[in-house]
Amino acid sequence: MKQLQDAILKYGNAVNEHVLKVDAFLNHQIDPTLMNEMAIDIIEHFKHKEIDKVVTIESSGIAPALMVAYQLNVPLVFFKKSTSSILNGECYQSHVHSFTKNIDYILTASHDYIHADEKILFVDDFLANGEAALGAADIIKQANASMVGIAIIIEKSFQPGRERLVTEGYDVYSLARIKKMAAKHIEFIND
Ligand code: G4P
Repeated sequence: MKQLQDAILKYGNAVNEHVLKVDAFLNHQIDPTLMNEMAIDIIEHFKHKEIDKVVTIESSGIAPALMVAYQLNVPLVFFKKSTSSILNGECYQSHVHSFTKNIDYILTASHDYIHADEKILFVDDFLANGEAALGAADIIKQANASMVGIAIIIEKSFQPGRERLVTEGYDVYSLARIKKMAAKHIEFIND
């Protein structure tokens, strides 16, 4: 998506070969106009799919996912990163390891907000190794719902996340695919 690539080139900061900082429009300050444009693009891609609900993971996935849910007129559920299994009420849980941050967390969702047979679009800000998306997919399976698509804002295509998700049979759509990067240099894959 051209507007997103332009924003990455203008405001993004490739800290090194692995980490891109996009605090100026996505991870700290949020650009609502860009979020809106991105949601339009995501909805166009998945227009032939029935979608009952949008799911993301706290916290940076919430802004783009909310825009998608708003335009589809469906609820947004964000899965929580609980470090404790003591929560009020019954919940689904899945263990996730983040290689980027080198932390483990328990992805958690209440039984009240994910139901059998729901068709879910998963939206997240970054795709690296695919651990978070696979954790979300695990919870959706536990609920006997189905993940009909995965929309990613920024895919780091030099990491194995996309391949792992596609191998599992998921329809993955990324708005910006980064082929490689280094300090002050970012190269995209243009499909
Ligand atoms: P994976 O799920 O694809 O395996 O990704 P990984 O665990 O490696 O990364 C998890 C966290 O790191 C996510 O944030 C993700 O947004 C963030 N992340 C990964 N690569 C980058 C990057 O190049 N730049 C930035 N800015 N973030 C990156 P999180 O833990 O969910 O935190 P939050 O910001 O959503 O609260």
